[in-house]
Amino acid sequence: MKVWVLMALMCAAVGLGAHDSGGIGGLSAPNYSDALAKSILFFEGQRSGRLPANQRVTWRGNSAVYDGQAEGVNLTGGYYDAGDNVKFGFPMAFSVSLLSWSALEFRDEVSAAGQLLYLRSAIQWGAYFLLRAHTSPTTLYTQVGDGNADHQCWERPEDMDTPRTLYKITASSPGSEAAGEAAAALAAAYLVFKDDPDKTLATQLLASSRSLFDFANNYRGSFQSSCPFYCSYSGYQASIMCTDELQWAAAWLYRATRDRKYFDYLQNNQGGSSNTFSWDNKYPGAQMLATREYLLAGRSELQSYKRGLDSFVCAVMPNSGNTQIRTTPGGLLFASDTVNLQYTTTAALLLSIYSKTLRSSGTSAVQCSGARFTPDQIGSFATSQVDYILGKNPLGMSYMVGYSSKYPLRIHHRGSSVPSIYALPRKVTCNEGYSSWFPTSSPNPNVLVGAIVGGPDGNDQFYDNRGDSTHTEPTTYINAAFVGACAAALRRSVGDIASVTI
Ligand SMILES: *[C@@H]1O[C@H](CO)[C@@H](O)[C@H](O)[C@H]1NC(C)=O
Ligand SMILES: *[C@@H]1O[C@H](CO)[C@@H](O)[C@H](O)[C@H]1NC(C)=O
Repeated sequence: MKVWVLMALMCAAVGLGAHDSGGIGGLSAPNYSDALAKSILFFEGQRSGRLPANQRVTWRGNSAVYDGQAEGVNLTGGYYDAGDNVKFGFPMAFSVSLLSWSALEFRDEVSAAGQLLYLRSAIQWGAYFLLRAHTSPTTLYTQVGDGNADHQCWERPEDMDTPRTLYKITASSPGSEAAGEAAAALAAAYLVFKDDPDKTLATQLLASSRSLFDFANNYRGSFQSSCPFYCSYSGYQASIMCTDELQWAAAWLYRATRDRKYFDYLQNNQGGSSNTFSWDNKYPGAQMLATREYLLAGRSELQSYKRGLDSFVCAVMPNSGNTQIRTTPGGLLFASDTVNLQYTTTAALLLSIYSKTLRSSGTSAVQCSGARFTPDQIGSFATSQVDYILGKNPLGMSYMVGYSSKYPLRIHHRGSSVPSIYALPRKVTCNEGYSSWFPTSSPNPNVLVGAIVGGPDGNDQFYDNRGDSTHTEPTTYINAAFVGACAAALRRSVGDIASVTI
């Protein structure tokens, strides 16, 4: 609490002089290849565990190499969630789902930019962790690290000495959202790796995904032990006997296997809607996957999912007659003042995929009450959001660290804001971090290249203030959605309109 009061005061002092460097990000066309590469590189900065020899973010070192040991499980690896040092399995799985989706839908663009191997590595780093966390058919470790203790410390991951408490879901303490999201992630990752000559990984991914779906579906319950962090508010709805994650997982597993079981699940559990797509709400994602089956594979039983997806489109497109999410004066889709870019990037990803799918199926437009939108208009709006993030905004500010000449310098991120263990090779304790490195107005010593922060406020303003986590903290799922949206923008910029096959 102390911290928040202190930083609210500092905000006024630090914010004003922060952006006088006169960047030109808003004037030139974005370099989508550069942004795409950086958005993927970010994941190397978030790596937990023992780092490989080809690690490119070299100011990071090994960390948390004993995670899981207290219960005899190997839970090393995976990603730190954001600017903290906790591994939250639920949003981590969502990031793996989004990265995998990006790799599947925009493989050619990612490959043309020379990034496919890096994207595959980013997916693997998360997927291997999820595989190791799934230690029995009805056991999934969902978190490593005590969120409250972690947040009371400002330590580099390499120095971390807060409790690495383990949290898990089991048959007697289930969590359908967490198991369902992990099932979705591993099925999506399976589709990325299934054509590799060595089938070992793909086989494990699919087996684990199927098993997790059964766990989520047969042991219904809501996962709450991570609270107050990442409690699923939307998730488990006993009244309709399904969760958004189960729909999402079933849709991925149907795409991966063509197994009737998952199709039946989708057919028998229609319904649910949301005007945002996030770690907490997967309905629009499930609707996109099911709509793809309807439009491209003729599964007319799934038509209601297209109606749900069209409602999402009408909710986010400006001037649709049904717009529910406003845009800022500068044109940014603005769903919430709390980590808003997570909603912007997921909307841009979904709209990009839908635009491509509509075009491939020969669908001319989406009809809203006050307007109809062609695939091109939907894709253009998605690109406008990518462009805003990369600097086409009233401040001329790139919200991606290390991109363009003007970007956030004081991001809310422990590893980035304390000098590297290679520059300051002694322990920096919990309190020293908070007193010496957290409250300064100096730029972070380590540039976490590619990190996309929570973003500006509803008036396109941004105060580059380390204490203001809702605006200056990056997260893995913002970047994961951006990867696909940026690849789609790259595709549009070169006018490449290829069709998809199913
Ligand atoms: C875009 O960025 C890439 C990678 O940084 C660079 O090689 C390329 O020259 C840039 N393209 C333009 C048009 O500036
Ligand atoms: C945990 O798994 C990782 C990745 O497979 C491996 O490198 C590491 O040696 C394992 N650690 C232990 C303690 O078994």
